[in-house]
Amino acid sequence: MSGKADVVVGLQWGDEGKGKVSYLLSRGAEAVARFQGGANAGHTVMLNGVRHKFNMLPAGSLAGARPVIAAGCVLDVEAFRREVEHLRGFGVQAFPLVSRAVHVVLPLHRMVDGRLEELRGGAAIGTTLRGIGPAYADKMLRLGVRAGDLAEPGHTASKASLLQKIHGMGFEVDLEGLRKVVEPFLGDVSGYLNEVLDSGLRVVLEGAQGTLLDIDHGTYPYVTSSNTVAAAGFVSTGIPVQRHGRIVGVMKAYTTRVGEGPFPTEITGPLAEALRERGGEYGTTTGRPRRVGWLDIPALKHACRINGVTEIAVTKLDILSGLDEIRVCVRYLLDGSEVDVFAEALPWLGRVEPVYEVFRGWKPSAGEWVQAVRHGWDALPPQVCEYLGWLEKTLNTPITIASVGEEAGMTVLRESIR
Ligand code: IMP
Ligand code: MG
Repeated sequence: MSGKADVVVGLQWGDEGKGKVSYLLSRGAEAVARFQGGANAGHTVMLNGVRHKFNMLPAGSLAGARPVIAAGCVLDVEAFRREVEHLRGFGVQAFPLVSRAVHVVLPLHRMVDGRLEELRGGAAIGTTLRGIGPAYADKMLRLGVRAGDLAEPGHTASKASLLQKIHGMGFEVDLEGLRKVVEPFLGDVSGYLNEVLDSGLRVVLEGAQGTLLDIDHGTYPYVTSSNTVAAAGFVSTGIPVQRHGRIVGVMKAYTTRVGEGPFPTEITGPLAEALRERGGEYGTTTGRPRRVGWLDIPALKHACRINGVTEIAVTKLDILSGLDEIRVCVRYLLDGSEVDVFAEALPWLGRVEPVYEVFRGWKPSAGEWVQAVRHGWDALPPQVCEYLGWLEKTLNTPITIASVGEEAGMTVLRESIR
């Protein structure tokens, strides 16, 4: 029987905990592919007290699945080199595979990213300054240097010189150094992944950022420069869409956003600070404090729909512990009228008022979380079950994974997917 490609995507503005979920899903998979973005991502897996951080490789590779960088990514060669070494040091043997078509982020792209942010002034996006937008822009202009080009030094040098002229910026780049790192890993990603599936094995497609940062479906222009939705995983890897398996949407039990842009359920003050501290809500890549807020149902419905999620993973339920009440935005008020369709509110998202429903909080001891991990879903605190049950019904999607601690093992899995 043919294998399937399972997808992991973020349903919010990134940092939902995709790293951990991808790790769990990648156990027993043959390969795991990052399909968009670059070293702007920060995917973390905490394994036996050791925190593993990935910016470029799929976090699922820690589970032993072969790491793949698919065509739709932009490759940060230094981050790639570092993480390949990290995996080796950890004893992971799988040999990474990099698409020849993936575009390389050059020092010039970081300079342009920084310069653009400066020029935007008050309208800055708050990018990670990793050169992501400029690298994708050059790809679309058909100017970019692809990983496969690095193997042909003369060709690459003339491309690099054209890039300097067009951007009006000089830059130093050690193309030979980049070639040495990347060349051994180059290969045919689409051919490989389709053969893995043909042989009946499973593949995981690991998304980065989140649906609300999608270049087409997010809060443009306050978005990243790629499609972050599940369908992009198929475009990028060259796996046909009908080979999809589970499409797991990952959402935090609350919301965070790093960078600028509208955020209707944002909260400030002591509660926001407490959640930020407790949840370690600082950018993995940039260290910036993340903005914090309640769940946003219209936004989540939008995300579930356009990803076609077959199931949801809810993370960081433990971080909400100790609150008397938990709020969830169920619709918006826009100039006095109620709106519950995200896409309708989107052009005015900066000035909608959230309408909240209030839930009872929970306050289990550390031991009670461990009991739930051991004994399963029904051992979760009743208020958590109430919250998750309501979310399942409202989003019309089963919740199969509940994360109650940073450790990979601190996860309650529904029977069906154990
Ligand atoms: P860029 O992707 O660096 O161009 O940044 C564009 C926007 O996406 C900014 O608001 C960033 O903070 C945000 N962003 C990019 N990558 C991530 C991520 O992995 N997690 C959360 N936000 C991200
Ligand atoms: Mg992150």
